[in-house]
Amino acid sequence: AEDLYMMYKGVLMPTLIHPPESLMRFERFTFRPDDVLIVTYPKSGTTWMQEIVPLIMSGGDPSSVETLHNWDRVPWLEEAHSCSLDLDNRPSPRMFTTHFLPRMMPPSFFEVKPKVIYVMRNPKDVFTSSFHYCAMASFLVDPGSQTEFLQKFLKGEVMFGSWFDHVKSWLDYKEQIFYICYEEMIKDLQDSVARLAVFLEKSLDNDAIVKIAERCVFQNMKKNSMSNYSAVPKEIMDTTKSEFLRKGIAGDWKNQMTVAEVEYFDAVYAENMKDVDYRFAWD
Ligand code: PPS
Repeated sequence: AEDLYMMYKGVLMPTLIHPPESLMRFERFTFRPDDVLIVTYPKSGTTWMQEIVPLIMSGGDPSSVETLHNWDRVPWLEEAHSCSLDLDNRPSPRMFTTHFLPRMMPPSFFEVKPKVIYVMRNPKDVFTSSFHYCAMASFLVDPGSQTEFLQKFLKGEVMFGSWFDHVKSWLDYKEQIFYICYEEMIKDLQDSVARLAVFLEKSLDNDAIVKIAERCVFQNMKKNSMSNYSAVPKEIMDTTKSEFLRKGIAGDWKNQMTVAEVEYFDAVYAENMKDVDYRFAWD
């Protein structure tokens, strides 16, 4: 099972979906100043943002979220699938996704400085969501017991490495970046959409904001076959074990983690985050 992951630029990545061709292509990729890049540590709200951003950019027109899979609509730049898409000839403004850390980004990213939306989520819920996801996705290392997976997660021995490293390095990136927490989106999605629209320089009237938020609430988005991963074969994602759009709530860690696990997590969190002054919505 260990060859399911490989080390790339210091972090573990799923080998199957990140072959050398797609990694080399991303390394040579040319950004445009009006590109919009969604950046996340896995399980932090990627798919949700892949629904919201296209709707904002289209002024609320749902055609792209109704006809294109999320991986075609806002493709991951590091994934094998992106090699099958003609990204260089897409009309502006283009939208992309990545799980990369800043130090893994290609030269063009630092020259061009496209717009970045960085979504963060309570790491206890990231842990909980990852635990279920690693058990259902065949290209990911089986999580083992919950306690084993917790140790690996806190040491960064999971896909895309340490959550702490990811969040801290993107908080240090001082260019055109919009930070948002999953928990803010849960609490007030309309307000989140409105603030994202301002960052994306899209003027939306209140009616459009309300409609976009309504479309993107968990229960509605879960029904969108272009975004709920129902197109993925059962051999790759076994939805009898867990669904991709699983619960969609803040605080599910309370149902998952033991008191001892929470204590351990809190101690590691406090140590790693002591110098971070960002006010996270989950704190
Ligand atoms: S991935 O694999 O990195 O692309 O996964 P990602 O999309 O970042 O994270 C999946 C979790 O996000 C939840 N999700 C949502 N929550 C609320 N509202 C909406 N619309 C929504 N869409 C996706 C999804 O359910 C996963 O979280 P859990 O806690 O497992 O339910």
